[in-house]
Amino acid sequence: GNGAAKAQKSRNIIEKLEESDKNCVVFYGSQTGTAEDYASRLAKEGSSRFGLKTMVADLEDYEYENLDKFPDDKLAVFVLATYGEGEPTDNAVEFYEFFGSEDINFSEGGGIDDKPLSNLKYVAFGLGNNTYEHYNSMVRNVDKYLTRLGATRLGAAGEGDDGAGTMEEDFLAWKEPMWQAVCESMGLEEREAVYEAVFEITEKPDLSAEDDTVYLGEPNKNHLEGTQRGPYNANNPFIAPILESKEVFTTPDRNCLHMEIGIEGSNLSYTTGDHIAVWPTNAGKEVDRFLTVLGLAPKRHTVIAVKGLDSTAKVPFPSPTTYDAAVRYHMEICAPVSRQNVSTIAQFAANDEIKAEMVKLGNDKDYFHEQVTDRNLNLAQLLEIVSKGEPWPKIPFSLMIESLLKIQPRYYSISSSSYVQKDKIAITAVVESTEKPGAPHIVKGVTTNYLLALKQKQHGEPNPDPHGLEYSITGPRNKYDGIHVPVHVRHSNFKLPSDPSKPIIMVGPGTGVAPFRAFVQERAAQAKAGQTVGKTVLFFGCRKASEDFLYEKEWEEYKEALGDNFVLHTAFSRDGPQKVYVQHRMEEYGEELNKLLEQKAYFYVCGDAAHMAREVNTLLGKIIAKYRDVPESKGESIVKAMRASNQYQEDVWS
Ligand code: FAD
Ligand code: 2AM
Repeated sequence: GNGAAKAQKSRNIIEKLEESDKNCVVFYGSQTGTAEDYASRLAKEGSSRFGLKTMVADLEDYEYENLDKFPDDKLAVFVLATYGEGEPTDNAVEFYEFFGSEDINFSEGGGIDDKPLSNLKYVAFGLGNNTYEHYNSMVRNVDKYLTRLGATRLGAAGEGDDGAGTMEEDFLAWKEPMWQAVCESMGLEEREAVYEAVFEITEKPDLSAEDDTVYLGEPNKNHLEGTQRGPYNANNPFIAPILESKEVFTTPDRNCLHMEIGIEGSNLSYTTGDHIAVWPTNAGKEVDRFLTVLGLAPKRHTVIAVKGLDSTAKVPFPSPTTYDAAVRYHMEICAPVSRQNVSTIAQFAANDEIKAEMVKLGNDKDYFHEQVTDRNLNLAQLLEIVSKGEPWPKIPFSLMIESLLKIQPRYYSISSSSYVQKDKIAITAVVESTEKPGAPHIVKGVTTNYLLALKQKQHGEPNPDPHGLEYSITGPRNKYDGIHVPVHVRHSNFKLPSDPSKPIIMVGPGTGVAPFRAFVQERAAQAKAGQTVGKTVLFFGCRKASEDFLYEKEWEEYKEALGDNFVLHTAFSRDGPQKVYVQHRMEEYGEELNKLLEQKAYFYVCGDAAHMAREVNTLLGKIIAKYRDVPESKGESIVKAMRASNQYQEDVWS
């Protein structure tokens, strides 16, 4: 019957294109949702401006063995993010391995030399970060692989740079000539763009938000029915109890949380060095603003059914739900605004004056930067300012679902050891709050302020910014008692040597110390249990010894267990007249560092990718060169080799 057919979704993209009468598929390899967002924008633009019949496809959902049969009158678009050290995103791993293979095999047989993809026309855009060594390697390699298989690229392969902060502009600049090339090749003509909704929103006055078939933030049916079930992963978070929460430092302008999250009974497991993903809830104040700006506040709890108007459109949250729940739990409403979206929204302005301002913002890059980007506005804040507080009831809710990312989990380097506490995961997170002169609002990090609110609730503390926890799924339905947070675990390759007697060197300023607290905790416990533990050297940096010295007391306990084998080098950047960073300490201890590395010590760096991790990498090459008396270029290549053999490991973020 139908059910079985549905369960066995076809993985054949060619069939899917035929069935749904499409001539363009936009594939995405996405980790944090940006590539997915660009993919859906390209698909929309292709159909509204050029009459292409487009669909969006997750690379994970299809097979590629049959791309040799891709019809030559259709187009494939690849939007590919590069993750970390030149890696594919989780959903693109198989795709990347398939195309990178030297003995690649397509459905009709035929290897690389037979140019099996000579029918395939494609365009490609990559999302990368130039602060990482393998900048945009996904799109560069995939482009190379496709070309050597005989496929034809239309236009140039684009590259967006998150490191320079120009991703959106790089994307906008790339796509115009790309569309021209596509039009030429496929004989298309540009037409007056017309907005076509992707989703149909039906209000259900017969249903109450209290009805137990209505989703109020639950990610899927099991959660809705109160029977959450593993395996827990990026599609199915575990609603975990918060066992402990505290502030490890608090200053007037910054604070840092330490939380212990219970995973007992969930079948979730972690090993030291893994990441935990936290699923946030938007702040109540921003949810209110968003609903008010759209004129939806009075009917926020109205039940809505959301459905794709086309068989290839995926609704990004479960339905039926309410406007409030969709916005609060599923839409990334606080993120920076995209200039392209501003152009699209212009047509739904209440009057010509407002429309003209939106068109100007959409067209004039510099004006947009000055008015929007530089002032850290989110979408609702911008709309509120442009319309002087008047609501925008003409904006279709579908357009908002299409324009905003679906809410993304945030990752944290687990700061506990699985050897010490396998059922409890610790997080060390600085609460993000960015104030900018001239900006009308303070940007508050979504997830960290949600965690802060949970901490305040757990301790019955006053909360000046209630965050809307009262609406949370832990609230009205009372299915989960106490205080909970949705999480899953992401395994990483950032690992201690399996033999604890091996020496290790760790560099982790600020919250970069998180996984090293886990590493040292583990080695201290191993020493206590009578195992031989090697030299354990940690470089930690913060602003002031008296202010943000993370885990200051704990290091002393670990020192008792590890004795002289544990060495903590601290760098306090704002205690003296001159900035002292972990790099300065590394230089001072250069001779010893080099000696340990010659004894095959593992070297770890965690924290800021943009500056610190890079500088540490360069410095290590210099230290090696100095103490081994070799040229600096040789020092550099030794560091490269250490990375290649996993002796040098990074866990960094920007
Ligand atoms: P978000 O809401 O995501 O905002 C982040 C920043 O974006 C803001 O501070 C602001 O500068 C900017 N921003 C947001 N909205 C706007 C806007 N409208 N306009 C302009 N700018 C805006 N963090 C830790 O504290 N500890 C860890 O151990 C840790 N480990 C990590 C490990 C990995 C592998 C990764 C990838 C990241 C890690 N992070 C860690 C960072 C963490 O994932 C989050 O990015 C961080 O906590 C901020 O999340 P948030 O939701 O609070 O802020
Ligand atoms: P600063 O903020 O006083 O400049 C944790 O954030 C610590 O890392 C702080 O002491 C911070 O110093 C320091 N830090 C900032 N930039 C750094 C860099 N490029 N390399 C190493 N440490 C840095």
